[in-house]
Amino acid sequence: MLELDIREQEKLAAEALTGLREGRIQRLFSYGVPADLLQTADDLAYFSENYGFDVASCPAMGGNELFRLVLKDPGYTAFNNAEIEILGRIGNRLGASKVDTILELGPGSGEKTGLLLKSVSPAKYVAIESAAGFCEQTQKIVDAIGTPHTILQADFLDTKNLRRAAELVSGNNIWIVLLGSTFGNFSPADRTQLLQDCAEPLNKSKITLLIGQDCTQDEAKLQAGYGNAITAVFFLNSLRWINSILATDLRARDFEYAVDIVREAEGSNVQMFLVAKRDITIRGNLRGQAFSLTIERDARLLVGESRRPLPESIEARYGSAFKRGVPPRISLPQGGSTMFVAQNTPR
Ligand SMILES: C[S@@+](CC[C@H](N)C(=O)[O-])C[C@H]1O[C@@H](n2cnc3c(N)ncnc32)[C@H](O)[C@@H]1O
Repeated sequence: MLELDIREQEKLAAEALTGLREGRIQRLFSYGVPADLLQTADDLAYFSENYGFDVASCPAMGGNELFRLVLKDPGYTAFNNAEIEILGRIGNRLGASKVDTILELGPGSGEKTGLLLKSVSPAKYVAIESAAGFCEQTQKIVDAIGTPHTILQADFLDTKNLRRAAELVSGNNIWIVLLGSTFGNFSPADRTQLLQDCAEPLNKSKITLLIGQDCTQDEAKLQAGYGNAITAVFFLNSLRWINSILATDLRARDFEYAVDIVREAEGSNVQMFLVAKRDITIRGNLRGQAFSLTIERDARLLVGESRRPLPESIEARYGSAFKRGVPPRISLPQGGSTMFVAQNTPR
């Protein structure tokens, strides 16, 4: 049943992968949903592309299962494996003295969490993860290791949830952990804010910040990592989630998947698009208010971004956002990943 579904979706993706097209860049929800419906910060978080990780309306598999397959695609494994390798020996590399709590944002399947817990042996583990399927998977892994833990199914971009998590943290030696280039999915401003919001309630403790971040790579490697069929399926699948929220009828066959690599001063930004193959008129409903919108043929809907900074700009931006950071950076450049580590001076 599961396999059949993957094959069907791969067929769809093969059709969708007809390459890159020129066109306008638009975010779906600034494109047609009436602006007065999207006024609060909550609305924007609501439409975060990251919710594609857990597509409740997909009968056979959620976005979390698709993401697991994305990580196994040969184009992507080079990035992921480098991080896995570093985590296996991070305890020794950082000379981890007694760590009281690890607070992880977005553990995903929990595979890397398991390596980290074994390597560092904290007294407690707290996580915030929005995808229900991922919460369950991480729970199983942490249960098996036996670390006392709480996993909150919540949005970590919401400060309220960071505060809830901070209340669960105990001890004076805290690690805040973001792996798998999760940071790369957010804008520089969001990243700075998130670091500040995370660290602020815990400022009296010694905090070690651990960020796993993919770095700039040559174009061919990035295309192989992000322009593959299973990644296309992952993003086409997020249309189901959009449909379930907006009561629309967007269909994967009306879009093709395309990847652009934009060079920026701080590194490169891999942008993922769904490109409309024809004019698409849809009707939807947001919080009881009906709307209709036309997505024009060739319109490019930005559905994902993965910023891959230069190592120097990681230090400059993450270190300064964290304040007082003295970063011993651990890197494995051959895999294209960096483990950025910074520590505060407790107040
Ligand atoms: C790029 S994946 C990385 C997963 C895992 N750390 C790894 O390295 O394989 C990002 C993870 O963060 C979660 N996530 C993304 N945005 C989130 C948010 N705003 N609140 C909570 N979880 C979020 C996703 O569901 C996903 O598990």
